[in-house]
Amino acid sequence: MSKLLYIQASPRRQRSKSIAVADAFIEAYKQTHPHDQIVTFNVFDALIPDFDGPVVQAKYAILHGRQQSKKQLQVWKDVERVIEQFTSADKFLLAVPMWNFSVPYRLKRYIDVLVQPGYTFSYSQDKGYQGLVIEKPLLAVYARGGEYAASSEAEAFDLQKKYIELIFGFIGFQDIRSIIVEPTLQAGPNVADAKRQEAIDTAKEIAVGF
Ligand SMILES: Cc1cc2nc3c(=O)[nH]c(=O)nc-3n(C[C@H](O)[C@H](O)[C@H](O)COP(=O)(O)O)c2cc1C
Repeated sequence: MSKLLYIQASPRRQRSKSIAVADAFIEAYKQTHPHDQIVTFNVFDALIPDFDGPVVQAKYAILHGRQQSKKQLQVWKDVERVIEQFTSADKFLLAVPMWNFSVPYRLKRYIDVLVQPGYTFSYSQDKGYQGLVIEKPLLAVYARGGEYAASSEAEAFDLQKKYIELIFGFIGFQDIRSIIVEPTLQAGPNVADAKRQEAIDTAKEIAVGF
């Protein structure tokens, strides 16, 4: 039995295009993987600790081999809880809206908690950086109001897919698949609906062999 972690990063819920496509993936996945466990959360609801002064100090205490203070140990437990939930999964599904050419701030906050030396990546003089979350597939569903086609002028503005692939690649993911739903706004509702349906069909196909 595998565990699939489904992370939603849109607060728009019923109206979200990325969630609609990811939900269709989940429905198809359930039919072909009836015994798998699916854990779903939305980064806008989930308890994700602030990555503020005490947590940063706790991180640097680990980095520099210093003992953590009582307060640091306490705040670090919340970071470890988030990481443990993530690393205990075998497969990953992300529903990601584009916000200001990148990802919503709550997803960035989640990533800032997740990406920690000694937990999700390591560094050594001889080996350099190495991702520790290995041999696990990830499917990211990206929704954008505009269009950012490869080789177009707009492509340079796409810091959403590039960032997700870079940061999850950094912590070890090699099998990162993607579905893009675009444009969800720019060309009007008819085009948006057609693109959404196209993406749902693709999601259902991918789910079977995921
Ligand atoms: C705060 C905010 C910022 C946005 N920034 C962009 C943007 O930079 N480029 C773009 O193409 N669309 C942008 N959009 C539109 C969303 O990408 C679009 O509505 C997409 O469908 C959102 O995903 P969702 O439907 O899953 O919530 C923005 C929307 C919001 C709410």
